[in-house]
Amino acid sequence: MSFDCQPLQDEILRLKQEQNAIILAHNYQREDVQDIADYVGDSLELSRTAANIDCSVIVFCGVHFMAESASILSPDKTVLLAEAEAGCPMAEMIRVDSPRPFRSNFPGFSNPPAYVFPLDFSLRDIKQQYPGVPVVAYVNTTAAVKAESDICCTSANVVKVVESLPGDSVICIPDKNLSMWAARNTGKKIIAWDGYCNIHERVTPEDVSRAKAEHPDALVVAHPECRIDVLEMADQVTSTSGMLRFARASVSKEFIIGTETGLLHRLRKENPDKSFYPLRKDMICPNMKKTTLQSVIRAFSENRHVIKVPEYIRVPARRALDRMLEIV
Ligand code: 13P
Ligand code: SF4
Repeated sequence: MSFDCQPLQDEILRLKQEQNAIILAHNYQREDVQDIADYVGDSLELSRTAANIDCSVIVFCGVHFMAESASILSPDKTVLLAEAEAGCPMAEMIRVDSPRPFRSNFPGFSNPPAYVFPLDFSLRDIKQQYPGVPVVAYVNTTAAVKAESDICCTSANVVKVVESLPGDSVICIPDKNLSMWAARNTGKKIIAWDGYCNIHERVTPEDVSRAKAEHPDALVVAHPECRIDVLEMADQVTSTSGMLRFARASVSKEFIIGTETGLLHRLRKENPDKSFYPLRKDMICPNMKKTTLQSVIRAFSENRHVIKVPEYIRVPARRALDRMLEIV
């Protein structure tokens, strides 16, 4: 932490104590934001923490769906999202009953394979087409979509969640890459959606080959939001916190990291004797980077941006999150 940050850091500490608050930050947050957080983690860990933590206020440094999950799990607490505009484009790619409105924001969209539902459909369309087939919603979805789903999953537990369901078919929304990963690692027929994360989707097998040529002794670790042809080349496929555990336990000294570059901060801090290289230097999520120390101070001092989910959505959405938390 640089000297300039100290007054902001002190102010955050004071406000936090004054308001009996906890700061949760995702592994992709800016380094100085990670450093002032009480808990830094992946989506699953942050959901668990939000469900169990004893405090009055949760300040969430992440993106909207994460703060929404915290509010769904902790309705009695005030949940503040430090930056109101921090959203996840993938979470906007599926709607309950109307087509996704911003298709043209994602150039390069190509025709999906037959079993992947195009973005123009809604969740209710797909449910109508496959009555009785359970719906697994990645946590990167809105509360309304979770409320229409049977169970949630994260990148850390998708295989276990899919395997836990009855029948041979499962609808998996919205990330086609995570769905293909689940199809590859379970015996289930996966009915997928054509959503994707534009940060992870941009990685190609050529990027992996280039990084391996530059660092021949390094292991390749990739997030399951990457394309399946990239995942096939990886030594390990796992969530952000799974990457931290893998790096810690591995005897290898060098790693190529295929996820948002914010994770490199913790990897380097926790493993000073090891080297970490980004698979691509431009794997930067602009939404995750919106939150600064100033945003955290404003969240506290102006009590913003309150995230509250209406009860008729919160209750069924909570059921889907609780089912996930029960099995993993
Ligand atoms: P994790 O659950 O692995 O932290 O990932 C969240 C996310 O948004 C990945 O892009
Ligand atoms: Fe969404 Fe991708 Fe950013 Fe994760 S990295 S929050 S999936 S846009």
